[in-house]
Formats: sequence, C-alpha cells, structure tokens
Amino acid sequence: MSTLVITELMDIEGIDGIDTYVKNKGYEGLKKALKEYTPDELIEYVKASGLRGRGGAGFPTGLKWSFVPKNPGKPKYLCVNCDESEPGTCKDRDMVTYLPHQLLEGIAICCYAVGINQAFIYIRGEMLEGYEILEKAVEEAVQRNFLGDNILGTDFSLDVVVHRGAGAYICGEESALLSSLEGERGFPRLKPPFPAVEGLYACPTVINNVETLSTLPAIMRKGAEWYSSLGTERSKGTRVLCLSGHVNKPGNYELELGASMRHLIEECGGGVMGGELKAIIPGGASAPMLTKEHLDVALDFEAIAAAGSMAGSGAVIVINDKTCIVKTCLNLDQFFEEESCGKCTPCREGTKWLVDILTRMVNGHGRPEDIDLLKSVCNNILGNTFCPLGDSATSCIMSAFKYFPEEFEHYAHHGCSILEGKKEMAKS
Ligand SMILES: Cc1cc2nc3c(=O)[nH]c(=O)nc-3n(C[C@H](O)[C@H](O)[C@H](O)COP(=O)(O)O)c2cc1C
Ligand code: SF4
Repeated sequence: MSTLVITELMDIEGIDGIDTYVKNKGYEGLKKALKEYTPDELIEYVKASGLRGRGGAGFPTGLKWSFVPKNPGKPKYLCVNCDESEPGTCKDRDMVTYLPHQLLEGIAICCYAVGINQAFIYIRGEMLEGYEILEKAVEEAVQRNFLGDNILGTDFSLDVVVHRGAGAYICGEESALLSSLEGERGFPRLKPPFPAVEGLYACPTVINNVETLSTLPAIMRKGAEWYSSLGTERSKGTRVLCLSGHVNKPGNYELELGASMRHLIEECGGGVMGGELKAIIPGGASAPMLTKEHLDVALDFEAIAAAGSMAGSGAVIVINDKTCIVKTCLNLDQFFEEESCGKCTPCREGTKWLVDILTRMVNGHGRPEDIDLLKSVCNNILGNTFCPLGDSATSCIMSAFKYFPEEFEHYAHHGCSILEGKKEMAKS
C-alpha cells in the first residue's frame, strides 16, 4: 500500500465542496504558509521538499519559482496548466473534478511564495464539468477569504480566473499556452526569454501543472522532510500514474516514485488483458516505447530515462501481443499530425509524411524502401523543430524500429501485418 499524498482525500463524499474540504484539514497548509514563512523561506521550503514538476519535464518546482525576479516593476502571474491533452493522461481532470480546493490552496501557496496577485487556470476546453466545478470553488474560496483581498487578514491578495482553452494539444506547451491566453493563435514562442522573466503580457510568469500545485497543501501540512522521505533519491514523493490500454483495471493510481512498472500493471492494473505484454509506453504518447524486458524498471524520472524513454506526463499505456505495432505508430502519429500547429516545416510536413508512409504500409502498399524513408523523415524532424511536439512524433517509430523491426519489414515485404502471417503482396 503506497502513501497517498495528492489523492488521500479524493474518496471523501462532498470533498469538492469547501465545508467538507475545510473539515478535512483543507486550507491548513495555506494558513501555515502565511503564518510561519516569509515568501523567500517558503521557496526554500518547497526546494527542500524535492518536489519536481508533474507536467512532463520534472523541473524542480522551488527552483523554478526562484527564477522569478523579486521586484520587476510590473505584475507577476501564475498560469496553471490544466490543458491535459497528451493521449493517455487523465489525472488533472480528476484533481479538478474531485479536489478543486486542494488545487486552489496550492495556487495560493505558490502565489504567496512568488509574490503573485493574479493567477489563471488554463483548462482544456472539453473539460466543461471541471471548469464549472472550479468556477464554483473559486467563488466559495473568495467567500471564505482563502482567495480575494487580504487573505485571512494578511496583506496578501489573490485573484484567480478560470480560462477555457479551445481544444488544442499544443496549448499545453507553456509558451503556446501564454499566446492562447493572450488571445493570440496558440503558437509556441522562442525561448529565451523564459516565462519566469518574460511570460504572460511580457511579465514574469510561473507556469505549473495541476498535480504539481495540488501537492503543495500536503507538503505544507506534513512537512518538506516528510515529503522528501518518499520516493527515490532524486525523484521525491508520489505521482499519479494514468494506467490505460490492455489492462484489466485501467485508472489513475498514486504511487511512490520508485515503484516498478510491474507493480503498477500487475498489482494495481490487475495484469495485462487479452494476451501477453508486448510494449509499454511509460510517459504518454510522446514517450518512446519500452517492452516486457523493462517491467522491473522503476517509474521515476531517472530510471525511465536510463531505460531509454521518459516519465513525461505519467500516462502508462499497456499494449498486448495481439496488437500491431505499425498500426499503433500510425494511430499515435495521426494525433501528432492533427495537433501540429504548423509553425515550423519539419513538424508540419514531417508528421504528414510519417502518416502517409505508415498509412501506405498498413493498407498493404508498403515498399522495402519505406523503412529507410521513415527513418530519414524521423531524422529530419528530430532536433530540428521549434518545440518538442515534432520530436514526440518520432518517439513511437524510432523505439518501435528498435524493438520490433520485423513488424515494419513484414509490411514492406509482404504487404500485411506480421500478425496476419505472409500473404500475397497487395497491388499498388
Ligand atoms: C506539446 C506539449 C504539450 C504539453 N502539454 C502539457 C499539459 O497539458 N499540461 C502540463 O502541465 N504540461 C504540459 N506540457 C509541459 C509544459 O510545457 C510545462 O513544462 C509544464 O506545464 C510545467 O509545469 P510543471 O513545472 O509543474 O511540470 C506540454 C509540453 C509540450 C511540449
Ligand atoms: S514543432 Fe510542431 S507543434 Fe511545435 S512549433 Fe513546430 S509545427 Fe508547431
């Protein structure tokens, strides 16, 4: 049984309402932060907890806050990233739906530490229910003076606006999120300048994921030392992992960092459904595939990277041996092609090429030279795009070539999936 940090209160009836949340130690973390710490001390406290961002890159949260200038002579902002559009990822949705006040408390703690008086929650457009729940929660928190002017009698004030996106995956990329929030097309921006110095409306801005911020109330209540005693040496605490695909019990599971993929799939997920394990995508659609050889790899930032993939958004997708890997790659790359914002050529053109070639292959018209062509298109995208989305489109194909090259070869030479056996080459 793993220690629960973020989801500890999730099953309490009515916990989305402020009364029940307060009865269960809700807003105690904020009270402690305001009463016992100066903003600078609070940043050090969060650094000491070892908390790292849960949006994808795992950047240390306290360190990120410390990059924001103290007295920039202009407003500072917090943008909460609740765009959550990475295929396989569905944890932030649960956190805003069931524990909206935990997120608001985390937002207030962050804003007090960094000296921010205006926060925006950028929520994926399709999450209408979450949006309505958050709007109500903000209203309740203002009424109880956990948000608003002079919070709990201090000179700290905070306004929170909930803003709905319009359904673009790229708007989860932090600089595209800022463009979208400003009313522009959701294009990523060149970095530097980084948002900490020049973000929303060219003002210093912190951008944090929902889970990152939702972790802060428990850290404040139970202590930085307690939190950093969980997890591994460099990946502290717990993480909500979104388990999906061919498992008997898909769902969101909070585990201490360092737990293995085997534990997640077998103990939490009830094992692989409909066949044997073939591949695992351990960090959302952008992460390279791993195989059953990696079942004992720990689900922490370092161990997954050492195994050749990435922890990413925490979405673990399980693929059984009845699944065609080439079709899986096509499915994933159709997503990236659709979501490419079109700003840079290698991604805009490259993702279309990948989809065209893979479509040709799965339709039975693949050619032997398509294997090298696929690799060449991937190599022309990799490292040459404006933002990481382009690289992400190559992850599935490059890793599938590493572990399942025979599946591509079979399509190229026999015109069908290796799972269907050899058949006559279809006429092109
Ligand atoms: C294409 C793309 C999509 C992303 N989508 C999300 C998202 O939906 N939610 C999120 O928190 N981070 C997302 N990120 C990562 C953000 O850019 C950013 O690193 C993160 O919000 C920082 O928060 P953290 O420090 O709390 O992890 C995405 C990145 C890329 C490149
Ligand atoms: S890599 Fe793709 S999503 Fe990113 S800026 Fe270029 S075209 Fe847009």
